[in-house]
Amino acid sequence: MTRWLPAVVFGLCALAAQDLAPRSLAPYYPTPDTVVLKMLQLGGLKAGEKMFDLGSGDGRIVILAAQKFHAEAVGIEIDNDLYRKSVERIRSLGLERSAHIVHGDLLAQNYGSADLVTVYLLPDAIDNQVEPLLDRQLKKGARVVAHDFEFRNWKPEKVENIADDGEGRSRTLYLYRK
Ligand SMILES: C[S@@+](CC[C@H](N)C(=O)[O-])C[C@H]1O[C@@H](n2cnc3c(N)ncnc32)[C@H](O)[C@@H]1O
Repeated sequence: MTRWLPAVVFGLCALAAQDLAPRSLAPYYPTPDTVVLKMLQLGGLKAGEKMFDLGSGDGRIVILAAQKFHAEAVGIEIDNDLYRKSVERIRSLGLERSAHIVHGDLLAQNYGSADLVTVYLLPDAIDNQVEPLLDRQLKKGARVVAHDFEFRNWKPEKVENIADDGEGRSRTLYLYRK
């Protein structure tokens, strides 16, 4: 038995590490710029407010929120290259004071200070992880704008259909308020 012990311990550690590793909640599929603008407008983002983009990709939502809406904008991105690319873009635009990207798992953050949260993630992730997390953490009055995939247990305050996103595809945006 002692001969097998290191292999057993190694196997158990590998399994535990797999369980602890952050899971991808959606592939990278960027929101077209025209739709980004509509998401932030629908969310009623105001200067000085705090917004989070959950899975921020190349940082386009965070950048527009800081640049055009003068919000305090934070993105969370798990992918190394997208994280690096978004940080470089923020630096090149001189937006470091108002736009930030956290390199990590969006499920391991606290959104208690959010005025607005934007979400473009897969339905399964929204149902099982993101919705329960935001239910627990969001302050009263905080808004959530979801792109294409709704929060099935919440009642939207507004639903906006975009017939053509400029790339020939239709989109649906959902606004929720806690
Ligand atoms: C559909 S894309 C949306 C990107 C951006 N929000 C937009 O609308 O353009 C989803 C993003 O979430 C990121 N992502 C997936 N799972 C994540 C996790 N657990 N923590 C942080 N980011 C994650 C992906 O790498 C990807 O960039």
